[in-house]
Amino acid sequence: MADTTLTWLGHSAFRLDTSRGKRIYIDPFLNGNPKCPEDELEPERADIVAVTHGHGDHVGDTVDIAKKHGSTVVAIVELSGWLGKQGVDDDKLPAPNKGGTVDVGGVKFTVVNAFHTGSAPDGSYGGEPAGFVVTTEDGKKLYFAGDTCVFGDMQLIGRIYEPDVAIVPIGDHYTMGPKEASVAIELLGVKRVVPCHWGTFGLLTGTPDQLDVPAGVTVERLQPGDSITV
Ligand code: NI
Ligand code: MN
Repeated sequence: MADTTLTWLGHSAFRLDTSRGKRIYIDPFLNGNPKCPEDELEPERADIVAVTHGHGDHVGDTVDIAKKHGSTVVAIVELSGWLGKQGVDDDKLPAPNKGGTVDVGGVKFTVVNAFHTGSAPDGSYGGEPAGFVVTTEDGKKLYFAGDTCVFGDMQLIGRIYEPDVAIVPIGDHYTMGPKEASVAIELLGVKRVVPCHWGTFGLLTGTPDQLDVPAGVTVERLQPGDSITV
């Protein structure tokens, strides 16, 4: 069986390729993302796109990708409504809300809390920002925190879902910085972390070197375009 591969595309954008061959994009801010590798700007296929919230640096190319590839788009109810108005097929918008799980061809997406603000890219209401726990067909669990500060209930996410890897923002300014992210990692109880939402723009000053994590936690120091096997 093939590996489950997570590739960082800069900022909060990721490509997740499951061992069963599903290709998933999370927060696909590709065009306009100064850190997105050139050869990742135009996806050649996309089974699923998951969007944590309506800000432009997360919705990114979602509408274009979904229209071109017929992707299912997982986003919270109100943001799904907005995506439908942009021309994403209603049949491809399962539209879950927090606490809910949708199964897209064997890959499960659970919507979890995030503390942030939100609107759709045109300023209309885009629902509350969220995080996702993604469970692949063979049971690999990845927690994408989305944009958020640290919050105590990350402990619940750790307890209930026991993610194999947590993908957390560390850049500061628009999200938590390294000090809060270090506590987030502790609360989640994860053994493996991928920092994101850093290094994209000058305002995002947090770096992986500033994380102070418990012994036994691996911080994956990816550069855009790098992958890990989950
Ligand atoms: Ni945001
Ligand atoms: Mn953001």
